[in-house]
Amino acid sequence: MKKRNSIGAKIASVLAACVMLAGCAGKPKRVDPKGEENLQNQTNVLVVYFSWSGNLQKMAHWISEETGGDILRVTTKEEYPENYDDTVNRAKEEVNNGIRPELNIDLTQEQLDKYDVIYFGFPVWWYDLPMPMWTFLESYDFSGKTVIPFFSHEGSSDGAGSLPTITRLIPNATVRTEDALSIRGKKVKNSEDETKEWVRKVSAES
Ligand SMILES: Cc1cc2nc3c(=O)[nH]c(=O)nc-3n(C[C@H](O)[C@H](O)[C@H](O)COP(=O)(O)O)c2cc1C
Repeated sequence: MKKRNSIGAKIASVLAACVMLAGCAGKPKRVDPKGEENLQNQTNVLVVYFSWSGNLQKMAHWISEETGGDILRVTTKEEYPENYDDTVNRAKEEVNNGIRPELNIDLTQEQLDKYDVIYFGFPVWWYDLPMPMWTFLESYDFSGKTVIPFFSHEGSSDGAGSLPTITRLIPNATVRTEDALSIRGKKVKNSEDETKEWVRKVSAES
């Protein structure tokens, strides 16, 4: 997929992807929007994720199983709509206006400081990180931590603007963009082995 040329081209091609999605497989459905926070602190690994239709939730759980890492789902005070089109429109409004949605998580900086390695999962939204993940990265100090991105998409297989955004927002962390895991949305359900294999590879290199 072409990288961004202009905002117009960008929006047109995402809309084409969304129309394609709707035509091929029916519109994605929201999974239960409730948060998830299991911070036992018995490990130096944290798996943080954002997910609307459940793909990142699956990937995050496989990564947590493989690493033994704690897990945190990033959710927002104002839930995203159940309806797909309404969610696409809200996300567009947020990205166009640089809105940082307020988060519904309890994580403190002190808790975060117990982790050295953070697996950071998100769907590509409007060719970038979903805005709640901007809020998340801007809310904490990630100095000295290693951040390993994993994401899902429906065409933006290189993550489009998302990986540069992470690096820009947390310049004091080591962000392993070269090692990021990218899986197409509709393939996620059959990707447990691929995901766990990726974890073994990246954790061996840590
Ligand atoms: C609001 C919204 C915007 C999206 N924008 C893009 C995009 O720019 N590029 C892309 O490849 N996929 C895009 N997608 C598709 C998602 O990245 C993909 O379906 C992903 O697997 C969803 O993960 P989830 O099930 O964890 O929410 C978008 C989906 C939504 C809901």
